[in-house]
Amino acid sequence: MLLFDQFFNDNDVQDAIDIILKRLEFYQHNIEGVKPANKDFETDFSNLMRTIESVKGPLFYPYLSSGFGKGPYVECADGSVKLDFISGIGVHWSHSDPRIIRSSLHAALHDCVMQGNLQQHQGSVPLYELLVKASGLDHVFLTSSGVMGVENALKICFQYKSPAKRILSFSNCFCGRTLAAASITDKPQYREGLPIVLPVDYVPFYDPKNPKESIQRSVEILKGYIKRYPNDYACMKFELIQGEGGFNVGSKPFFKAIISCLKEANIPVYIDETQTFGRTTELFAFQMFDLQDDVDVVSIGKMSQVCAILYRKHLKPKPGLISQTFTSSTTAIEAAKLILTELQSNNYFGKKGKMATLNDYFCKKLRSLAKKLPKTISDFRGVGSMIGFKLFQGDYQQSLSFIKICYKNGLILFIAGNNPTYIRFLLPIGDIDQCHIDEAMLIIEKSILEIKEEPNL
Ligand SMILES: Cc1ncc(COP(=O)(O)O)c(C=O)c1O
Repeated sequence: MLLFDQFFNDNDVQDAIDIILKRLEFYQHNIEGVKPANKDFETDFSNLMRTIESVKGPLFYPYLSSGFGKGPYVECADGSVKLDFISGIGVHWSHSDPRIIRSSLHAALHDCVMQGNLQQHQGSVPLYELLVKASGLDHVFLTSSGVMGVENALKICFQYKSPAKRILSFSNCFCGRTLAAASITDKPQYREGLPIVLPVDYVPFYDPKNPKESIQRSVEILKGYIKRYPNDYACMKFELIQGEGGFNVGSKPFFKAIISCLKEANIPVYIDETQTFGRTTELFAFQMFDLQDDVDVVSIGKMSQVCAILYRKHLKPKPGLISQTFTSSTTAIEAAKLILTELQSNNYFGKKGKMATLNDYFCKKLRSLAKKLPKTISDFRGVGSMIGFKLFQGDYQQSLSFIKICYKNGLILFIAGNNPTYIRFLLPIGDIDQCHIDEAMLIIEKSILEIKEEPNL
């Protein structure tokens, strides 16, 4: 047996890990629901906030976790316990999940904190294998963030289609914060003061209110671009469900129609699943929309804990095009394997899986709240653990005030889209139940009543 395996399987080491997990369970008993801040921590918390705000700048929420939690509950450094229904914008599987803590303890016993392209640990091999098998694509490359996945995906498309200079994407798309990603993201505020480094042509996204017309219009616009710039597109970048753009959900006929034009023009299909991976009714959203035979490149992140691109053989880049010092941390790689295995083996997907059931339950609760408080919430949207609704008319400032009131009341949410703005949930899917949704609904109701009382809104 290798020394590492001897060390890890050593009875004393295993007993130590078991003891830690027992103590975790013991302390988790103290978390029974949302609770307000505790005066005992007020001074320490204010000092922490003052320090971070002076060196980093203002925080969106006065949120600093203590490092402890239970399922969707997180203990904050001010002693409060909050329901986390945004999961770090889609990242957290759950808080202090014993399975993840066990895998992190395993990871902590390794020789290095970070793994990299030059030197990786044997434990990363099953992750590569899992991702390739689950996606049906040929190759995988781990990247250090979601946006580096976008960059790498674009680079392999550009090399494949060289000397193409442009890309296609959808209106209202979001793809991250590098210069190239900011050039693509369809939001002027996110590229204020930046040069446009990549020419992008935008096709309108699917409009579920006018399905037929929407498909016709987008196909016409796409064909127009392809005619105007023949052989000049490296790829079309898809978000199948636009997150930041407002939880806009596409449709299979829409994507199939767009993809058919792209295939005809030999333009690679790149699907950015940084936000949708592990959050819809299939592991990959492209599987939910039945696009597995169409996709050429996909990037994933957030829920997968590691970020990666997966691509077909014909797009394999020449040596030197893509590389990075870090593939990811040992802890993230071990957690990724656990989450992927759990998602694939425990009834999360399909029409009756956990994703669909929680979504149905949440939307049912939202509909009954809409009946109880007419003209307050509407336009429920999203798939699986991505859920959104419109507050009043979807005014940005009002929505912002609302989520801050929810935060004060113990529920962490975020917003998406602009004009209208949506209230946005990304559930910590690893350990969430209907009872947590019930508790969140009470806070939502209370917060709606409070915002209705606000004099300036
Ligand atoms: C669709 C999409 N692409 C790319 C990114 C960028 O990911 P990261 O913030 O990890 O760089 C995001 C982040 O929200 C995203 O939603």
